[in-house]
Amino acid sequence: MSFQIQPSPVARLNRSQLFGPGSRPEIFVKMAESEADVINLDLEDSVAPDDKEKARSNVIEAIDNIDWKNKTVSVRINSLDTPYWYRDVIDLLENCSERLDNLTIPKAGCAADIYAVDALVSSIEKETARSKNIGFEILIESAAGITNVNEIANSSSRIESMAFGAADFAASMGMVTTGIGGTQEGYYMHHAGQKYWSNPWHWAQASLVAACRINGILPVDGPYGDFNDREGFFAEAKRASTLGMVGKWAIHPNQVALANEVFTPSLDAIEEAKEIIKAMNKAAANGEGATVFKGRMVDIASIKQAEVLVKLANLIENDL
Ligand code: COA
Ligand code: MG
Repeated sequence: MSFQIQPSPVARLNRSQLFGPGSRPEIFVKMAESEADVINLDLEDSVAPDDKEKARSNVIEAIDNIDWKNKTVSVRINSLDTPYWYRDVIDLLENCSERLDNLTIPKAGCAADIYAVDALVSSIEKETARSKNIGFEILIESAAGITNVNEIANSSSRIESMAFGAADFAASMGMVTTGIGGTQEGYYMHHAGQKYWSNPWHWAQASLVAACRINGILPVDGPYGDFNDREGFFAEAKRASTLGMVGKWAIHPNQVALANEVFTPSLDAIEEAKEIIKAMNKAAANGEGATVFKGRMVDIASIKQAEVLVKLANLIENDL
């Protein structure tokens, strides 16, 4: 084991993140009433250039006037290559109460991108005497972002989560896809006359998870565009969960329950995790580091795996 201890991420739920365009204020209350753990009001790519200013003022008004319950509330600002982002940050920070929890920074390419936003946010926080620091959610969705994912993850103590965005990533990489997430038509192995579908996002997702884990950040899977394809969303969320991600975006309300289902451990899984911990405690009392549980070997690593589930179960219980 390295001398460096892996830090824990912020202790909050992030199973489902519901996005909605800042230019559609009529859906804000529906978002607040949803079962999503996190709300992302968007000023970026779901808002047309002519609507940017109006969307910003809609969002500022909504942050303080809608009851967002115990949800984490985040606003996605425009990316640093646009003329809009600095005004997004200034207007949001100067006008929103502390109900605004986080800013989502899209298309992060290097640590300096995050540093720039952090400097601006820090300055406004001091001037306006905010007592609660704004957190950051980072989007990794470009060739630069994935290449520099470790330095980005380590760039600011404000970062609470990092998400993988398949559509912009595919465009930046020159991938031959048009779908947002999921298996792609041309990505398969061929064996004995059969095609075996594979996951073209796998290495980027796994790299993002590793960068998050060494920096105590929640890894999150981004959008799945075909919101009528429940099976496709479910499979994508299951894969993300298996790879270590804690949640997934929802770009339509019918994806929220699916995300919550996948990223909530089942009662059986929690029970089994508790039994493994018990079996290991018994083994330890007998001076053993490994034992047999339901016919399989379990050892000290199994305690850590089981504790991931038990910790999440406690978080969910405390949120109810
Ligand atoms: N959050 C909450 N409610 C939403 C919603 C959202 N993101 N999107 C749609 N709804 C509501 C609709 O208002 C409608 O409500 P009603 O039954 O009271 O009329 C209901 O859910 C069904 O909506 P539907 O007609 O199926 O969808 P739509 O055509 O209105 O909108 C999208 C489809 C994809 C344009 C819309 O869901 C959307 O804007 N999603 C988010 C896009 C986004 O933020 N992208 C950036 C991140 S990738
Ligand atoms: Mg994007």
